[in-house]
This record gives sequence, C-alpha cells and structure tokens, in this order.
Amino acid sequence: MATSSSLPFLLLSTLLAAIVVLLQSPVSHADLDHQKAYFHACLSNKVWTNPSAPVSVIGALYTSTNSSFSDILNLHIHNKRFNRPNTPKPIAIITAFHESHVQAAVVCSKASNFQLRIRSGGHDYEGFSFVSDIPFILLDMYNLKSISVNIQNGTALVEAGATLGQLYYKVAKNSHVHAVAAGVCPSLGTGGHFSGGGYGNLMRKYGLSVDNIIDAKIVNVNGDILDRKSMGEDLFWAIRGGGGASFGVILSWTIKLVAVPPLVTVFKVNRTLEQGVTDIVYKWQHVAPKLHRDLFIRLQHEVHHKTVQVFFIGEFLGRTDRLLSLMKESFPELGLRKSDCLELPWVNSTVFYTEGPIGYPAEALLFEAKYPAQSYFKSKSDFVKKIISKKGLRSIWKKFIESEIIVMQWNPYGGRMWEISASATSFLLGIRHNSPLRKHL
Ligand SMILES: Cc1cc2nc3c(=O)[nH]c(=O)nc-3n(C[C@H](O)[C@H](O)[C@H](O)COP(=O)(O)OP(=O)(O)OC[C@H]3O[C@@H](n4cnc5c(N)ncnc54)[C@H](O)[C@@H]3O)c2cc1C
Ligand SMILES: *[C@@H]1O[C@H](CO)[C@@H](O)[C@H](O)[C@H]1NC(C)=O
Ligand SMILES: *[C@@H]1O[C@H](CO)[C@@H](O)[C@H](O)[C@H]1NC(C)=O
Ligand SMILES: *[C@@H]1O[C@H](CO)[C@@H](O)[C@H](O)[C@H]1NC(C)=O
Ligand SMILES: *[C@@H]1O[C@H](CO)[C@@H](O)[C@H](O)[C@H]1NC(C)=O
Repeated sequence: MATSSSLPFLLLSTLLAAIVVLLQSPVSHADLDHQKAYFHACLSNKVWTNPSAPVSVIGALYTSTNSSFSDILNLHIHNKRFNRPNTPKPIAIITAFHESHVQAAVVCSKASNFQLRIRSGGHDYEGFSFVSDIPFILLDMYNLKSISVNIQNGTALVEAGATLGQLYYKVAKNSHVHAVAAGVCPSLGTGGHFSGGGYGNLMRKYGLSVDNIIDAKIVNVNGDILDRKSMGEDLFWAIRGGGGASFGVILSWTIKLVAVPPLVTVFKVNRTLEQGVTDIVYKWQHVAPKLHRDLFIRLQHEVHHKTVQVFFIGEFLGRTDRLLSLMKESFPELGLRKSDCLELPWVNSTVFYTEGPIGYPAEALLFEAKYPAQSYFKSKSDFVKKIISKKGLRSIWKKFIESEIIVMQWNPYGGRMWEISASATSFLLGIRHNSPLRKHL
C-alpha cells in the first residue's frame, strides 16, 4: 500500500542499492583467502581472551567446515525467503557468549575488511541481520541472553540476545504488576526490536520500548564498550529508534518496567462484510487513537471463505465491567459483550496475543521458534495519516479478496504516543504525532 510517505523512502533505497552495486568491486579468490587468514589470525590474538573469564573466541567460531554451521545459521532464520541455496552465506559465524567475543568480532571483521552482520532474534523483514551480498561475518547474539529484574528499582537489565518472551516471563516471575512496553511476537530479539522502536499493546499508555530505555551498553566500531554516560547523549539518542546496527553492537539495555493491574482484560472478536464491517472499521479509525489510554484495540484483516474478516483484538488495563462501560460510551458499534472478554494476568495476555489457547501456560513464551523456517512471507509497514474513506476501505477489501493471502494489522497510536516529543528518541521523527495509525501489511 504505497502512500505519499513511502515514496521518498522507495526512491532513497533504490539510489542506495545503485551505489552499493557500483562500489562492490569483484573479490578474487586470492583476496578472499587472504582476508580469511587475516580474520582467523586476528581472532587467535590472545587479547580476546578475557583474563577474568578465559573463554577463547575460537570456541564460539563456526565456519563451513564445522558440521553444525548450517544449523547455527538456520536457528534464527524465520522466513524461507532467506534460506535458499543461493542465499549468500557468512564466511564465519561467531556465537558470542562473552562480551570480549563481540569486541573480537567487531575489530577482526573490520581489520580483515569483512562486513559484519549482527543478529539477535533474526526477525529482520529483509534478512539484513544475516544476509549480505558482500563477504561477511555473522555475529550472533543469542547466547548473550541474561536478564536481571530489579523490582525495587522498577528496572530490568536485559542482554540483546534475550527474546521478548524470555523477558516477559522473567519479569512476571518477579511481579504480577510489572510489565514491559514492547511488541507482540515473543521470539523477537531485544537487540533488534528495541533499537528500532518497539511498539505493542502498552504503547497507548506507556509509549514504545525506546521510551522506556534508561541505559544501554554497546560495543562501538573500535571495539570499546560504552554505557550511556561514556557514549554520550547523542549516541544514546540514536540507538533508541535509529536501528542499533548503524552505530555499533548493543550488548544490553536497562529498561524501566511499567505498571499493570493484577488482571487485564483481553478480547478477540471478528466482524464480516455481512455484519457491516466497513462502517465499524470506519468508526474505529476515528475512535481508536482517542480511546482511554488503558485500552488498545488492534485490527487484523484476513480473508476467509472469500470474504473479509476483521478481527478486533483488544487489551484493557483493567477489569471487564469498566471496559464494557468505556466501549458503550466510545465504540458501541463493535457490540462487545461480556462473554467476549477474558481476564488474565498480564503475562498470560501476551500468550493470548500469540494465539495460545485459553489457559495455555505462560511457559509458551520460552519456546524456541521452529527451524528451519516454516513459511515464505513479505512484510512492510506504513503510517496512515488520514482517515481512509469507506470507499477506500471497500477497495482494500476487494484487493484482499482477490489476493486471498494478504494479512494486515492496524495499530492505533494516540495517548502517551502523542505526548512524547517527536525528537525525544530517533524513532521515525515526527511520525508519532502526525499519524493516528500504524498499518502493517
Ligand atoms: C513475526 C514478526 C512480528 C513482529 N511484531 C512486531 C511488533 O509487535 N512490534 C514491533 O515494533 N515490531 C514487530 N516486528 C518487527 C521487529 O521488531 C523488527 O523486525 C526487529 O528489528 C526484529 O529484531 P530481532 O532482534 O528479532 O531481529 P534481527 O534480524 O536479529 O535484527 C534486526 C535488525 O537489528 C540489528 N540488530 C540486531 N541485534 C542487534 C544488536 N545486538 N546490536 C545492534 N544491532 C542489532 C540487525 O543487524 C538488523 O538490522 C515484527 C516482526 C516479525 C517478523
Ligand atoms: C569449528 O571447527 C574448528 C576446527 O575444527 C574448531 O577448532 C572449533 O572449535 C569448531 N567450533 C565449534 C564452535 O565447535
Ligand atoms: C537502584 O537504584 C539506586 C538508586 O537510584 C541505584 O543506586 C542502584 O544502583 C540501582 N540498582 C540497580 C541494580 O540498578
Ligand atoms: C469469527 O467469530 C465467530 C463467532 O462470532 C466464530 O464462530 C468464528 O470462528 C470466527 N472466525 C474465525 C476465522 O476465527
Ligand atoms: C497463566 O500462566 C500460568 C503460568 O504458566 C499458568 O499456570 C496459568 O494457568 C495461566 N492462566 C491462565 C488463566 O491462562
């Protein structure tokens, strides 16, 4: 769904692609062998063995000669588009399990003129965290996943390789009234997700993940480890929304936990064309960004049996009775009933959002995503700046029914999202205030 706002982006990326192709001089085998030798020699340098934790980086190094190379590579590829035989593979993978391994990966890939790709959860829409056309080293962060929760201070320290699911679970083990403002899919890595913004069910009340980050530890291009104080406020600003890999490797984040009641209310109802969904969605566009900030209602559009079904998926930071009276006041058109609502501890609601059946244990958050990847998909997101007319909605439904396979999600902003200054973080400058909705295709 191209809008005027995506046009400059498309133009820019085409231009960048052209520049990359021009700069990419052919690499001869002799050069490549020389680069590899240089890389391995650099890694063998004893500097990378931390004296207090003498773990040589070689134990975290995989090349195509190691039998588990493909398994390690595929472990965090979630999209079949990026594990085809002709997908470029890394020269080597470093599965860092110590900070010094990250430093070694940065310094040695730079010294040997390899590109470095950094992967945490591996959910990058275009596989940029583990694919490159230029010979590259993959730094895989999934072993750096410790999480420590400090309820007294209301904070958590989370390493970049931890997933959202692991973080949610750990926070809930410590408290039922603390939560994390972040996304919906539990296998997202905090390394990539937080550095790109991180939006989810709590954003209307608490903003994005980046709005709740109070410190970070990174390795910069020279291999130095910096925290907020030593990196300075400019760099700290940049890594909160601007994508971590543009500036260094995120080792860990310190986040502020947010308050939730012991029980939240969730619902998921669907409406079809026959049930007048066009009118309901039209109204939703007006009310969703202005609802009470305790209430978040996401739309998910799907096609079933050749007709459009729109799911209204809600999370309310309170009990059912209060939710129903708010809905009656602001959005009676949906016709939400008491029997549609379910009261759960916040951590169980994160499982509900991932389609876990009712009563499903929160331990589901700890399951590793299946590999190899199960499906091919293409995702993109965009911002809706103006209410889409009923005519516009009907033409969207038509496209949906023709394609049969498109799924779209619409996420409302408003509330806290509109209070935070557009320049407070580097997350898509200005977009917060100008767009009521975020559309996800
Ligand atoms: C199924 C699915 C559901 C999603 N749901 C949501 C959602 O609810 N809310 C939302 O906001 N977004 C969502 N996203 C988008 C997601 O937040 C981004 O794709 C995010 O970048 C993924 O982070 P990752 O660590 O899993 O991915 P990766 O592929 O590992 O990394 C993504 C990018 O970040 C860089 N990076 C990763 N780790 C580091 C690090 N330690 N230091 C520096 N750079 C690093 C990578 O190089 C790459 O450029 C979803 C994506 C998918 C595929
Ligand atoms: C990969 O193989 C090399 C050479 O046999 C070995 O030294 C290294 O330890 C192996 N890597 C891992 C992580 O097992
Ligand atoms: C908790 O907060 C206090 C006071 O700000 C601070 O001194 C202490 O280091 C914090 N503890 C942790 C583990 O962050
Ligand atoms: C839509 O909701 C109805 C109940 O109102 C339910 O029976 C049906 O299974 C739902 N459709 C899908 C695809 O989940
Ligand atoms: C919530 O998760 C816990 C922990 O796994 C589980 O014991 C409980 O049954 C779940 N509750 C609901 C209502 O889903």
